[in-house]
Amino acid sequence: MLITLEGIDGSGKSTLCEGLKSRLTDLNPLFTREPGSPHLGDAIRLAIAANGDPLVEATLFVADHAVHLSDVVRPALAERCLVISDRYSDSRFAYQEVSLARVHPNPRGWLTAVHAGWSIRPDLTILLVLPVAVAMSRLSSRTCREHFECLTFLEDVQKNFLACAAEDPERFLLVEADRDADTILDFVEKSIRARILR
Ligand code: ADP
Ligand code: TYD
Repeated sequence: MLITLEGIDGSGKSTLCEGLKSRLTDLNPLFTREPGSPHLGDAIRLAIAANGDPLVEATLFVADHAVHLSDVVRPALAERCLVISDRYSDSRFAYQEVSLARVHPNPRGWLTAVHAGWSIRPDLTILLVLPVAVAMSRLSSRTCREHFECLTFLEDVQKNFLACAAEDPERFLLVEADRDADTILDFVEKSIRARILR
């Protein structure tokens, strides 16, 4: 089973992942993330820092997804392992739909086409939703800001995440992410266990 965690920067995905690691030991899950490819990590960080051509950034994220599927996700699913990924394809549909709008007439069409036929649809996607200002205030202690981490950009990104959820409601679980971390962890742990037993 493939479970993905999605949400804007500062929504609490990494914190939730850490909590799930200690709560779900009996299920022996494989925790993974995008972007995460060792070959592409530096190129992706440089592309994000440069804030240059959004197509370069987008294609690097897609390449990272391909490496992630072939090296990590597919082999783990073949072993019937529970895979939990911190970010996955919905991050592309949410972020790159905004950034590609500068250079492409139909970002969503491009993103749909580029994933078609080879990507793997998650069984469950946990989407952390919160007021963007709350997420931004959580990030304010970070010394280094990526160009993604600005209020208007993240407002559009969150709208796109919600549009993905509205298109595929069976797959998505929306979580109110401005509650305290333990309440969120309890709810998500219960939801994952319920989904596995279904
Ligand atoms: P993400 O991985 O989605 O960018 P993080 O888990 O790194 O988010 O959280 C960003 C910041 O917000 C961190 O400083 C973290 O400690 C804090 N944080 C995470 N979840 C909560 C929460 N539910 N309430 C308050 N602060 C939180
Ligand atoms: P990540 O390393 O998950 O950042 P953080 O831990 O700060 O949330 O991702 C780096 C940035 O890349 C983040 O702002 C989201 C963005 N991103 C995309 O724009 N498209 C993608 O497909 C992915 C996976 C991430």
